[in-house]
Amino acid sequence: MANASRIKVGIIGSQFQAMCHAEAFKAISSDAEVVAIASPTPGHAKKLADRYGIPRVFTDYRDMLELPDLDAVTIAAPNYLHAQMTIDIANAAKHVICEKPLCMNLAEADRMIAACRAKGVLLMYAEELFFTPKYVRAKQMADEGAFGKVYLVKQCEKHFGPHAEWFWNMDLAGGGAVMDLGCHGIAFCSWFLGRPRVKTVYAQLNTHVHSDKTRGDDEAICIIEFEGGAVGMVENSWCRRGGMEDRIEVYGEGGVTYANLHMGNALPTYSEYGYGYAVEKAPTTKGWTYPVFEEFWNYGFPQEMLHFVNCIRGKEQLQATAQDGRAALEVIFAAYASAAKGCKVPLPFQSGAARPIDLWLQA
Ligand SMILES: NC(=O)c1ccc[n+]([C@@H]2O[C@H](COP(=O)([O-])OP(=O)(O)OC[C@H]3O[C@@H](n4cnc5c(N)ncnc54)[C@H](O)[C@@H]3O)[C@@H](O)[C@H]2O)c1
Repeated sequence: MANASRIKVGIIGSQFQAMCHAEAFKAISSDAEVVAIASPTPGHAKKLADRYGIPRVFTDYRDMLELPDLDAVTIAAPNYLHAQMTIDIANAAKHVICEKPLCMNLAEADRMIAACRAKGVLLMYAEELFFTPKYVRAKQMADEGAFGKVYLVKQCEKHFGPHAEWFWNMDLAGGGAVMDLGCHGIAFCSWFLGRPRVKTVYAQLNTHVHSDKTRGDDEAICIIEFEGGAVGMVENSWCRRGGMEDRIEVYGEGGVTYANLHMGNALPTYSEYGYGYAVEKAPTTKGWTYPVFEEFWNYGFPQEMLHFVNCIRGKEQLQATAQDGRAALEVIFAAYASAAKGCKVPLPFQSGAARPIDLWLQA
């Protein structure tokens, strides 16, 4: 199965991230093919299937899992479904590619990991920042010693709020900006520094703009103290006007580097009349805008999926694991606890809460 010429993939979900997955697999079509897609809303999966030439369409993902020739399934569904879907996929003996955040709580994470281990399938955590070309370049330089001892890594991801309703509903999402976007930055800082142990977490969370539609945080600053002294600073927002911002700063005693995913790759553009598409979540294409090119490649989605496909083939060692997702989730729990208490929270952090946000809302 795993060494077959092209890895056969099924996608769960048919909207935003499912499209990113389909696009990524299209870019690596000599290595993998999407053979099926499942999504409950009638017509939605069919629409994506038609666009990407996906032959099989299901409304119930469990029916898709019965396909005998499926090697792996990607999960591009709301957060509260990740755990059950992962367990169902593992039980069907398929490899799992799970979107971020890994799931709703640490008990779920442990069950997902155990189910995949029991069935001998890979649980791949789709953290594309580990594959984003600009960020990979920054890490390469850091690992070559360009900046000497790195003492501060910052990652920031901001926009004006998610595109789909369920993100605003804390029962379905589990948390606000620090969970939705911070999971990227938290995992990134850890990965960049070589995954040192997290000592403490401090977070400042607010709901500045969107309290009419969510109880979740829409603005978040999270400071992570790592063993060895380095600090990670993760800034997230669902309040930031003007489209998507995704950038890093790396400071060492011997140097510094900055990378802005969107601006450095964009074409500074002025248009009186507007045009089709600028960049993810941009509200307009009139006036000054910063259209990107090769957007999926610049995010790292095809590179990420190629790595996962090569892991399934046994050609590469998994670089984005369920453990990375679990570790980010533990920091997210600590961040909500910190914001509630107004002080640093030490790790390891344990909580029986069903969702990270509960630690903040119930304080
Ligand atoms: N890596 C990234 O940069 C990134 C970006 C966006 C979203 N995501 C993650 O991807 C996941 C999906 O987010 P999205 O933006 O695509 O959301 P979305 O609302 O655009 O799409 C969600 C999809 O899940 C489907 N779905 C809902 N219930 C389902 C069920 N029971 N069975 C099967 N499918 C079901 C919906 O029909 C829809 O197609 C989330 O976990 C989100 O955090 C990751």
